[in-house]
Amino acid sequence: MRLTSLFKKLLRWELALFLVSGCLTLVQASDKNFFVMDGHQSTIFVEGPVARAQNVVFYVTCWVTLVIFVIVGGVMGWVTLKFKARSEADEHAEPPAQSHGNPLVEIGLIAASVLALVVIAIPTVKEIWYTHDVPGADSRAKLDEMVKGGNAYEVTAIGYQWWFKFEYPTVQIAGAGTLATANELVIPTGVPVRVNLRTDDVIHSFWVPKLAGKVDMIPNRANFLWMQADQPGYYWGQCAEYCGDSHAVMRFRVIALGPKEFNEWLDGQTQGARTVSAPIASASAVARPQFAALRNFKPNEAGITATYEVNPIKAWRDKQNPEQNENAALIAEGRKLFQTKTCVVCHTVRGHEGVGTRAPDLTHFGSRTTLAGGLLENNTEQLHRWIRDPGAVKPGNKMEFGYVDRAGKSAMAGYKKTTGFGHEWKKNITLTVEEEHALVAYLQSLK
Ligand code: CUA
Repeated sequence: MRLTSLFKKLLRWELALFLVSGCLTLVQASDKNFFVMDGHQSTIFVEGPVARAQNVVFYVTCWVTLVIFVIVGGVMGWVTLKFKARSEADEHAEPPAQSHGNPLVEIGLIAASVLALVVIAIPTVKEIWYTHDVPGADSRAKLDEMVKGGNAYEVTAIGYQWWFKFEYPTVQIAGAGTLATANELVIPTGVPVRVNLRTDDVIHSFWVPKLAGKVDMIPNRANFLWMQADQPGYYWGQCAEYCGDSHAVMRFRVIALGPKEFNEWLDGQTQGARTVSAPIASASAVARPQFAALRNFKPNEAGITATYEVNPIKAWRDKQNPEQNENAALIAEGRKLFQTKTCVVCHTVRGHEGVGTRAPDLTHFGSRTTLAGGLLENNTEQLHRWIRDPGAVKPGNKMEFGYVDRAGKSAMAGYKKTTGFGHEWKKNITLTVEEEHALVAYLQSLK
């Protein structure tokens, strides 16, 4: 008997130690952000009316369930302590007389549960209508007219495996159709933005946690959502529905700009690609840069710098200006390679040679802060990493494998090609270090 009670005592100490050490580990392992919960994709620290409405529903639900937890847990704790066996005799005592229960308590509990659900249902239903009804929906007015009329600005987001295309239906470019960009959605602040949600292939989901909760992009279904940014800012977005190999790295950004800056950006986007004029001296006279050996990256190595992460909106604004010390000859060489290496078949560069629509529009690629579906920062180092081996960054992507038609034949080859389903994949595009540098210079010049 004494051995049993000793064992019980030890167990109690062990349990207490376990809990304390567990808490300490948790505190140590997490930085203060764990407790503050303010990250790039925080749903707690929100910056727009739609996300705020969804936040209200979250908090109401949390508080109601917290009250239930405290009451139920408290009663359970109290009963456990009050009626626990305190002696040998208690442990072997006859159970007390059993009864059917207490109608008052049972009806009371049902009523309390209904009340709790009603308290949750009222804001839920209210916010469902609020987030569903786009203010001034279906308006295709220009931004300035729209601001006057209190209407929503309309954009279309299209999911692809694994990147996002963004279209501006109100902006039509002669000979090129609807203005399209990729990975970075630029919106005006202070006005509701209607986002039409479409997909090119499988189901994706559009989610910018700080601005609005996720809505799926479903084949043959015209989904939409609306969101609004209070202030100019830079917001992290993410595909939130499993969509294949590289779902986890299918990201995007939303850049909110004041109306004036937004209109300026829009004007810039309607222009064709920037051409860096060739130097008067012949290409051979221009000093060739020394092509240093490029370092290799570890799989899953982070692709963004601290400078960008700390102040991304500044980084974005800086990106709108041409790089310093541009090498026109190298850029011209890159532009040629962009054709000869068949990049033009999938990518559009308006005003230059690119015409493809199956891959991101690169007309103003150099003015974006990110590349590869928002995964990597758009800087020289990461751009090299991406064009050298896109498959290592985003497994299964079409830049690596091209498009395979229904018969299993390679309809459009990428870095690798095959002669048919189940056949070997052979190298198709290879880039020397020099070629890489030329392509990087060209792409970066596309402001
Ligand atoms: Cu697209 Cu997950």
